[in-house]
Amino acid sequence: MIQLVFATGNKGKLAEASDILGPGFQLLTPADLGITEEIPETGDTLAQNSLQKAMYVYERTGRDCFADDTGLEVDCLDGAPGVHSARYASDGHDFDANIVKLLSEIEKKGPGASRKARFRCVVTLIISGSVHQFEGRMDGSIAPAKSGTRGFGYDPVFVPDVYGGKTLAEVSEEDKNNISHRGESLRSMAAWLKGQQ
Ligand code: IMP
Repeated sequence: MIQLVFATGNKGKLAEASDILGPGFQLLTPADLGITEEIPETGDTLAQNSLQKAMYVYERTGRDCFADDTGLEVDCLDGAPGVHSARYASDGHDFDANIVKLLSEIEKKGPGASRKARFRCVVTLIISGSVHQFEGRMDGSIAPAKSGTRGFGYDPVFVPDVYGGKTLAEVSEEDKNNISHRGESLRSMAAWLKGQQ
């Protein structure tokens, strides 16, 4: 059993990571180890933020740990919200407000604007004090309105290229994890860790 701290307070991410990594992994959260404050993410890139979050937990606990940082890039917004995806509308990690702003910014670009988009994810693993990064991406487009109730974040407006026009909030957790940015990066991390044993 590989025990790792996942540097997140997002319950949706924790559930996904547990499913993706499977029974060979036991995941702890920062809260399990007494870290209850919000972990800062002030970098300019996904890789920097992901490293900053993992390092925050490593420096305080000395435990093997990992963090992810994800950005949604929309073509007609020149790659925004990108690294600012969590705080697009405000400082409060408000998923609904972020979606409202996203749809309105795309609307302003007019009917011909490209709604093509992708999630990019960088996972940073700190194991025995050394740092390793893994990347994943998922391609799709932004729907004109919210649809579905599953998942979190931008899931209700993100239509992956592969499920016949459904949003991520309309497909099963398993279907999302099989193609997602986080799935790809965490499966790479798991394969690397298993190769070290
Ligand atoms: P962060 O990695 O927590 O900084 O995520 C950045 C933003 O992207 C947050 O608003 C998340 O909710 C959102 N996000 C991250 N992963 C996903 C996902 O799998 N689906 C939808 N939104 C996501």
